[in-house]
Amino acid sequence: MNLENETESDVPTVFWVGGTDGYLKMIDQTLLPTEFREIECRNDEAVWEAIKKLRVRGAPAIGIAAAYGVVLALQNGTGTERPDFDQRLTEASEYLAGSRPTAVNLFWALDRLQRLAADSPELSNSEMHQRLLEEARLIEQEDLVMCHKIGEVGAALISNGDGVLTHCNAGGLATSGGGTALAVFFEAARQGKGIHVYADETRPLLQGARLTTWELMQRGIPVTLISDSMAGWVMKEQKIQAVVTGADRIAANGDSANKIGTYSVALLASVHKIPFYIAAPSSTFDLSLESGEEIPIEERHPEEITHGFGKQTAPDGVDVYNPAFDVTPAKYITGIITERGLIQPVTKEEVLRVLSSDPA
Ligand code: MRU
Repeated sequence: MNLENETESDVPTVFWVGGTDGYLKMIDQTLLPTEFREIECRNDEAVWEAIKKLRVRGAPAIGIAAAYGVVLALQNGTGTERPDFDQRLTEASEYLAGSRPTAVNLFWALDRLQRLAADSPELSNSEMHQRLLEEARLIEQEDLVMCHKIGEVGAALISNGDGVLTHCNAGGLATSGGGTALAVFFEAARQGKGIHVYADETRPLLQGARLTTWELMQRGIPVTLISDSMAGWVMKEQKIQAVVTGADRIAANGDSANKIGTYSVALLASVHKIPFYIAAPSSTFDLSLESGEEIPIEERHPEEITHGFGKQTAPDGVDVYNPAFDVTPAKYITGIITERGLIQPVTKEEVLRVLSSDPA
């Protein structure tokens, strides 16, 4: 497939094919940017594997994939009685929830399906299965709308001529729509603002280099790739007027977990007096957590660092620490861009106020 001709609307990141007996299709993001391949997941094990291996990644996208994973799990062997069906639903949700620990969208989507089933005990197994598929589709559709609104809210913060920096990939590949951080850039560009994006490559799995630059180049938005360690110097050179990243989980006080390296970028932005924004939908907030201290941080395999993309770059047996996310304290976040509006200042009170308002 010709990579140049693909756009967000041509090929959704994750999408369901058919009715309740259908299957899940997704772009295998581990192969980008050199190969564009769609894979089919026909059972919940395949969805679990795809999330674990980052074939599908990004907080909203893994929530959507997990919701469809539940629908797959319920295709066979659910018996004729609702308790059997509900038991299988619980097992599948627990299983899929074990794929990755940090992005709360995963648990949010699974909880949503479980609550729906708990609220509809009168439905037969096949009716319930159909409702769960509809709900998974709704989660996907709502995400698309949220991305669009985040773009509109965030674009107002970007001026013509700005250089903007982002870390990891919070684009269409991480959502069902135009992304969160990247939606801000897409909308600013659509409004005719001339912007230039600097993309951190995002060690160790290079989501910035492989995915963010790919998406921006497809949209014709000027982008320059830098390695993570260059961000401070590029700020010092006054090339950056704003930083926008996504998030995987935001605590009630606004502390935000995102891809490892985000915390360093936020500190650098603070020192250089550059606004640092998080862009995230309401599904990424976990108001049950008082602060970021409680956010579980995924630790991944040492080989991602010692043998990145198949090439050994460290001595055999070296000790490695590989946390996949870090937490940026609210005090370093200028504002959180949500589909319900801008949270600024980032305080517990403002988080609650904006999240309880109507969508922007
Ligand atoms: O490990 P990944 O690639 O799933 O990490 C993704 C990120 O950190 C994104 O910034 C975040 O999920 C927001 S996506 C809209």
